[in-house]
Amino acid sequence: MSQNRQFILKRRPDGEPVPEDFALETETRPQIGDGQFLIRNHYASLDPAIRGWMDDRESYAPPIPLGEPVRATTIGVVEESRAKGFEEGMWVMGLNGIADYSVAEAGGFTQPIDADAVPSVTNYLSLFGAVGMTAYFGFLDVCEPKEGDTVLVTGAAGAVGSLVGQIAKIKGCTVIGIAGGPEKCARLTERYGYDSAIDYRGKDYEALVAAIGEAAPDGLDIIFENVGGDILDAGLMNLRLGARIGLCGLISEYNSPPVGARNLWQLIVHRARIQGLLVPDYLPRFGEGAQAMGEWAAAGKLVVDEHIDEGIENAFDAFMRLFEGSNQGKMILKI
Ligand SMILES: NC(=O)c1ccc[n+]([C@@H]2O[C@H](COP(=O)([O-])OP(=O)(O)OC[C@H]3O[C@@H](n4cnc5c(N)ncnc54)[C@H](OP(=O)(O)O)[C@@H]3O)[C@@H](O)[C@H]2O)c1
Repeated sequence: MSQNRQFILKRRPDGEPVPEDFALETETRPQIGDGQFLIRNHYASLDPAIRGWMDDRESYAPPIPLGEPVRATTIGVVEESRAKGFEEGMWVMGLNGIADYSVAEAGGFTQPIDADAVPSVTNYLSLFGAVGMTAYFGFLDVCEPKEGDTVLVTGAAGAVGSLVGQIAKIKGCTVIGIAGGPEKCARLTERYGYDSAIDYRGKDYEALVAAIGEAAPDGLDIIFENVGGDILDAGLMNLRLGARIGLCGLISEYNSPPVGARNLWQLIVHRARIQGLLVPDYLPRFGEGAQAMGEWAAAGKLVVDEHIDEGIENAFDAFMRLFEGSNQGKMILKI
């Protein structure tokens, strides 16, 4: 292929992204220089965090420059190389752009991956990648579960949430999940082994407080928070003494101004703690997490779902599934 199609950020979204914020542009295939290699991207990981990188504000990562491809973790094959250690045909993973091709440098973030070591190379974007490691370290390190704990997972049917719920079951906890719609709630109990499920759609704050209270009459030892807003506030009204809240994400606030948290006083009442987590902090320990997740999956204790949409021309619709809730598992774009 001599052309390079790129999913470009044209302007910064104001609230919910719209198709006009992006453009599919074609340029000639990029050339590489010394120390560089050309990646033919096969898959891009569509993550809620990408929405934050579209804004021009201070964060843990710089904003995506306007006119550049939307940044994402991609998996691809080295097609040309002038870099030591990156031979043609080698599978690699790194933070690149949603495009047919990316140029990367040796010593950068893009690293070789062993496609033969996993059932599907896309598992590096789910079970063995940032998503799996967020669930593993975010739950075990930040939430410090003990056998018998009552755990609430929000965004419970999603990529991170579904893994957290299953790890919590492996650790002997009682696990309640919150997700959108009856189908997803059925998946929580039937596929991921949650003890109970709460459908948040159509429930206001008061109804959410009551539903969590009904599912956890003695209160929550742990909240693994992916959503924020009313859902976090309702969880905070159901804490138990010494509760731990792992703040993983606030997806309900990525396209609109924050709501809450109004109930932080409950942390005082219950001597609870809330701690944010950022998965790159655990990079040095990814091997340990991947080994545990791999063993659980091989033993049939952990199921991993991937939702793969095809075609770079569908990048916008695929990305927006994360906010509509129409993804059934880790959202991946096959470029
Ligand atoms: N801190 C870290 O290092 C880190 C790393 C990875 C991910 N995260 C965070 O983890 C969370 C989940 O990410 P993921 O990649 O696993 O995505 P995901 O859960 O697979 O997909 C997003 C899900 O969020 C739910 N959602 C969207 N808008 C919502 C709203 N307004 N209210 C309630 N639920 C809503 C939808 O499920 P429903 O159908 O149930 O509504 C949707 O399917 C995100 O907050 C993300 O930012 C954090």
